Amino acid sequence: MIGAGYVGLVTGACFAEFGFDVVCLDNDTTKIDKLNQGLIPIYEPGLDSLVAQGMKSKRLTFSTNLKESVQASNIVMIAVGTPTNITDGHADLGYVYQAVKDVALAIDGYTVIVTKSTVPVGTGDEVVSLIKQTRPDLVEGVDFDVASNPEFLREGSAITDFMRPDRVVVGTDSQKARDVMQRLYRPLYLIETPILYTNKPTAELIKYAANGFLALKIGFINQMADLCEKTGADVQELGKGMGLDNRIGRKFLNASPGYGGSCFPKDTLALSKTARQLGAPCTIVDAVIEANTARKLKMAERILQRLRDRKLSKPRVAILGITFKPNTDDMRDAASLVIIPELLKHGVDVVIYDPLYYKNSDCLPHLAAQGITWGSEVTFASNRKEATLDADAAVILTEWHEFRGIDLSELQQSLAKPEGFLPLLIDLRNIYKTNEVDGLHYLSIGRSEVNNKIAI
Ligand SMILES: NC(=O)c1ccc[n+]([C@@H]2O[C@H](COP(=O)([O-])OP(=O)(O)OC[C@H]3O[C@@H](n4cnc5c(N)ncnc54)[C@H](O)[C@@H]3O)[C@@H](O)[C@H]2O)c1
Repeated sequence: MIGAGYVGLVTGACFAEFGFDVVCLDNDTTKIDKLNQGLIPIYEPGLDSLVAQGMKSKRLTFSTNLKESVQASNIVMIAVGTPTNITDGHADLGYVYQAVKDVALAIDGYTVIVTKSTVPVGTGDEVVSLIKQTRPDLVEGVDFDVASNPEFLREGSAITDFMRPDRVVVGTDSQKARDVMQRLYRPLYLIETPILYTNKPTAELIKYAANGFLALKIGFINQMADLCEKTGADVQELGKGMGLDNRIGRKFLNASPGYGGSCFPKDTLALSKTARQLGAPCTIVDAVIEANTARKLKMAERILQRLRDRKLSKPRVAILGITFKPNTDDMRDAASLVIIPELLKHGVDVVIYDPLYYKNSDCLPHLAAQGITWGSEVTFASNRKEATLDADAAVILTEWHEFRGIDLSELQQSLAKPEGFLPLLIDLRNIYKTNEVDGLHYLSIGRSEVNNKIAI
């Protein structure tokens, strides 16, 4: 497994659990050193014990020695990052191609090279060319084959997603490679997981099309939420009413501050770029990207407007949750990275509480990249109560479990109470019901604003 990040580490640990010998490689030596000491560099529920089990059984090992590891393997999975290339919006394939070259130089027997990273349609064929170019002595079908095997796991439930996937997609034209992949995924046949065999371009495009479609569902419900706010309709019930139709399905119909994370933003952008480049623009996806980008700013404006109404000289806002979703430490493209800088830009002080980040500072580089530095304007609280004490607003940005059971009367007591206004709770995840927020000015998404007009 080349790349021991969210996908590589989870996938590697799961294959070891299935009984395969797996070596996870990474060119980040600190990461491999940590893993060899049993320290998990990311937060993913259940991963620590799965890795410990794999290490104990000696089926899961970690190394930086690519040549030795590749030569000992008959399958090499590439699970390195494919971030957005900031100059043109396409997927940056630099890490993938570097890994492919390194692998090609090491091959010494039939090896199936599998792209698990999310890569644009056509990359599999480029990988074949690159291998031939790097090692003209290697013959496709004899010394190597290339397969696409996109990954669909979700951070926060990655292990269950990997062990019990809705489907597995394998793209290859080689029967030999297909047989190898069939043996690899044999453990999933026992639970009757649908395994779709197709060609490389289709497999590559399935991943982007799936993410594009899910992003579209999110974008759609968010625009419906805006419409609900204008009409007195309730987006929660609207989503339920739509989702009960089996053709639509209930998932991904929760209104939110917009999608973020390590996949949807970059994958929608890459899909849009590829489609345009190939002369088949996906204008629907273009519209979703535009709406999602605007939405995050709009959410910041929604907070600022309520603060302005209160005419506070130096407002202070408690931000509850900064990761892009609960149960992960992943900050990539999180809504917080747009909303917090906007608040700061408008003179608001911010105190952050996130269940994962009060105890470490791994989020600081992500914040720093957005110009947010930890200092007098941005502070971290060690618990929720400390964050909300005397704050001019509490804003729920990530629906961590511990925010679902807040004692609202205690919150009401602890938030600031400027003259003429009730304490302000802004819930951008619709965790609370509008009829249980007595004594609070409660603003959620796609539902009526509660107690905003009460002057006390
Ligand atoms: N994170 C997710 O939820 C998720 C889900 C499905 C698919 N994906 C896709 O999987 C791929 C990996 O994503 P991730 O979130 O695991 O990324 P990540 O950034 O967490 O991990 C990538 C790892 O690859 C290592 N790496 C880079 N180049 C290397 C090289 N030449 N040799 C060895 N190691 C190298 C990096 O050091 C890093 O540890 C991406 O294409 C992503 O789109 C991610």
